[in-house]
Amino acid sequence: VDIHVSSKGGNVTGGFHYGLLHEDIDNSGDGGLYAELIRNRAFQSSERYASSLAGWFPVNGTRLSLNTLEEPLSEALSTSLKVVPASASGRAGFFNDGYWGIDVKVQEYRGSFWVRGDYSGHFTASLQSNITGEQFGSTRVESKSQVDEWVEHDFTLTPSKNAPNSNNTFAITFEAEDLKSESLDFNLISLFPPTYKGRKNGLRLDLVEALEGFHPTLFRIPGGNMLEGNTNTSYWDWKDSIGPLKDRPGFSGVWRYQQTHGLGLLEYLEFAEDMGMELVLAVYAGLSLNGNVTPEDQLQQFIDDALDEIEFIRGPPDSKWGAVRAQLGHPEPWKLEYVEIGNEDWLAGAPKGWETYKDYRFPLFLEAINKACQGNDILGSTVRRVYDPDIQVIASGSVYDGHDIPSPGAGDYHLYTTPDTWVAEFGKFDTIKTPHIIGEMASTFPNGGTGWGSGVLRPFPWWQGAVGEGVALIGYERNADRIIGAIYAPILRNMNRWQWSITMLQFAADPAMTTRSTSWYVWELMAAHPITETLPASADFGPLYYVAGKNEKTQGHVFKAAVYNSTNGADVPVKLAFDGVAAGTTAELTVLTGPEDPYGINDPFTGVNIVKTTKTTVKSDKNGTFSFSLPNLSVAVLDTKGR
Ligand code: AHR
Repeated sequence: VDIHVSSKGGNVTGGFHYGLLHEDIDNSGDGGLYAELIRNRAFQSSERYASSLAGWFPVNGTRLSLNTLEEPLSEALSTSLKVVPASASGRAGFFNDGYWGIDVKVQEYRGSFWVRGDYSGHFTASLQSNITGEQFGSTRVESKSQVDEWVEHDFTLTPSKNAPNSNNTFAITFEAEDLKSESLDFNLISLFPPTYKGRKNGLRLDLVEALEGFHPTLFRIPGGNMLEGNTNTSYWDWKDSIGPLKDRPGFSGVWRYQQTHGLGLLEYLEFAEDMGMELVLAVYAGLSLNGNVTPEDQLQQFIDDALDEIEFIRGPPDSKWGAVRAQLGHPEPWKLEYVEIGNEDWLAGAPKGWETYKDYRFPLFLEAINKACQGNDILGSTVRRVYDPDIQVIASGSVYDGHDIPSPGAGDYHLYTTPDTWVAEFGKFDTIKTPHIIGEMASTFPNGGTGWGSGVLRPFPWWQGAVGEGVALIGYERNADRIIGAIYAPILRNMNRWQWSITMLQFAADPAMTTRSTSWYVWELMAAHPITETLPASADFGPLYYVAGKNEKTQGHVFKAAVYNSTNGADVPVKLAFDGVAAGTTAELTVLTGPEDPYGINDPFTGVNIVKTTKTTVKSDKNGTFSFSLPNLSVAVLDTKGR
């Protein structure tokens, strides 16, 4: 394939975004990204789930039960753990087996618990093996407990040795003879390992490092389905997810488990800030997963909630919600440029949900947000303008879902599909004028798999699927003047409890299980070489799919390509010349290839990485042409300036 790249005439993009969506699915939040090690730490309940003792076990026959005291720890946390020693002397207590194990290392753990009752002795907090009972570390916590009051106890615990595996527990015990009341009540029992950037109530280090490693610059929160909630009384209400943990009631999860709300709006914002990601804030739009639609005359409450949330994030510290943010320790406004109204409104409660969305829900949100945020000093734009107005409101469906999106709105296109479909859709956005985000995408089905109706998701992301995503990403990046960015979803899967098998990373309690999927490698390579201006090129597409452009920051010329279904599986020879790139220029060529089996996977249980990365230096000849060849099912980037 001969490709001649012009020096002018492409799209100025401002930098295409590669990003991630987070919602708590597959225990990717609680028991995942959120570093809390204690499962069911506050016995929370909600519309769909009852309080339970899941995760908790007695020490020495201690009697454990759920208790609803007249004076609970807080309105939000109304159920506590009643602990009655089995006898008048000896050690009593309980232990927790974590989110299917606890990783124990020689490092400082920070813990806390609340107690109510008359106890004058000390507590012992410890980490031990669930198999042999061997204790790896313990600490003494002097009791400050009061008969009629809830008192918080903090401690640090540094084990003296690493545990050989993650089958470990965390225990709290006390001396029965020093107990004056019949029982003690415990609540909000928490233990954190070191977290990303050392944040209190922070995120799990190895998972964030793996996410950071693929250079995401776009972060869509909170979901996905999680935003919508099961019903219109249990949607993801951001106001429940900020502030002290004892005031967070938890969330009635849509993926079959109760959530703590420990990973709330505040933590998402800190995460975006720490990683340098642009936010795509999804706001509840009056439609829930059971099809509950909010009538027009009751929608204002949710529009107000959205405006409050925007003010909480980017209003000045003396605005009502900006002041709450300041009180929570962040006086500086966060940057917020994209707000999405709802999630997949074309899906839940169709057709009514979608009709009402197009009819009044989206237009009312669009108007209210633009009115409040366009050039308005109160909410003050702190952001670079890529699109007008300064907050780009995004609909939760695309023009391909039958939404003639009113200006100045953008659309959101979601697709979980087969590798062949990505290739067939390569030019899908070439002529669409309305800006779009690709808010959720992943290869989920094998070619010939017939989709949701009769198909099943593959067990893991696989190589051919990853190359298919590469083709799609190239297609989107070619249109980066109108495509804001592309987002992989879902991103994390706890191998001990999940329902959605295709995720960018897989993990378990033991960090040794954390696995970068085949897709991670493709997305990493694409994201590592930003193009800020695409440039027109001469050759047709297929089996080589490509985008060429410049990076204004490095002044490098960049060429990204994927080869899919070459004739007889042969290598594709490429001759690439950029206008303005002189003879003798060197470039770094990175090529990703997979195994012969297109279904090859990176399996967390074997730890074997099947993606091969080859880096070479190539030099343009006397005519300024770079010559190289790319194998079938490969993804490659050539960059004259490196990263
Ligand atoms: O990413 C998993 C789910 O797929 C999301 O929650 C939803 O938006 C989509 O249908």
